[in-house]
Amino acid sequence: MTGPGRASEDAGPWTVLRLIRWTTGFFESRGVDTPRLDAEVLLADLLGLDRVRLYMNFDRPLNADELAAFRARVRRRAAREPVAYITGRKEFYSLTFRVGPEVLVPRPETELLVEETVRLARKRWPAGEPLRILDLGTGCGAVAAALASELDQARIFAIDISAPALALARLNAEALGLADRIRFFEGDLTSPLEGQGPGFHLAAANLPYVPRPALDDLAPEVRREPRLALDGGPEGLDLIRRAATRVRPLLEPRGALLLEIWPTHGPALTALGETLNYASVRLAKDLAARDRVAILDTAGNGD
Ligand SMILES: C[S@@+](CC[C@H](N)C(=O)[O-])C[C@H]1O[C@@H](n2cnc3c(N)ncnc32)[C@H](O)[C@@H]1O
Repeated sequence: MTGPGRASEDAGPWTVLRLIRWTTGFFESRGVDTPRLDAEVLLADLLGLDRVRLYMNFDRPLNADELAAFRARVRRRAAREPVAYITGRKEFYSLTFRVGPEVLVPRPETELLVEETVRLARKRWPAGEPLRILDLGTGCGAVAAALASELDQARIFAIDISAPALALARLNAEALGLADRIRFFEGDLTSPLEGQGPGFHLAAANLPYVPRPALDDLAPEVRREPRLALDGGPEGLDLIRRAATRVRPLLEPRGALLLEIWPTHGPALTALGETLNYASVRLAKDLAARDRVAILDTAGNGD
């Protein structure tokens, strides 16, 4: 890699704009999907600016230390490390989460899981009524924290099998001021809660659902995320089937399980809901009109 950090008498100093242009071309040559955006995010984060302020500082030259630090970031991104692992943070549902290689980076499409859960909660349990919500496979705690921030009366029970993920999730809940309403448990699906106390009104789960044969076709960035967060077994349905089975007896009347799914799994989820005695199954689509969230409901459609 030549470029930033190298002497550049002919072209003048490395300004913000010049760096963005050079880095965009370099990322393009390395097959990065969103080269300009990534160059801007990495540089803005390094300089402690948001992207609007970065644009207002196009002519600002970088000093030698800044150039060296940026060069290191560019190398990591060119090696297809996710941007969020480099900056150490990711926005989800307008909240900022610390992330690292121990967790999946929260995805925009998972906001649909939060939106559907919040909608059902508000429709069925008005503010002030007790509301207990499970978050299975909490990762960095994104879904748990988003639900707690939207639903003041909610108590969230967040579970993950990964101790390092839970450590990060706890830090995030504390940093967001939501730790008093989220309890974290380490274990397999609902096992840490079995035999404990009352039932749950809702359960939200973004569990691993990538069919194993598709794992090798994922983008290089995604393959750097924990396999434990992605691998859903031969068809992608192992964790989802077990979760739907175990959650059913834990749900209160009119309770529901909301699952983020692989887009071709809609019909399998409909069949699973019937087998497990859920009263109805609804599929919610993402912005690309793909089935993305399955709502396995103990109440019939329209309730
Ligand atoms: C797709 S990630 C989702 C993380 C986070 N909820 C999000 O949406 O960004 C799936 C998470 O499920 C966890 N997981 C995998 N197997 C599990 C199991 N048997 N029981 C509980 N959690 C599990 C992984 O460690 C990972 O954090």
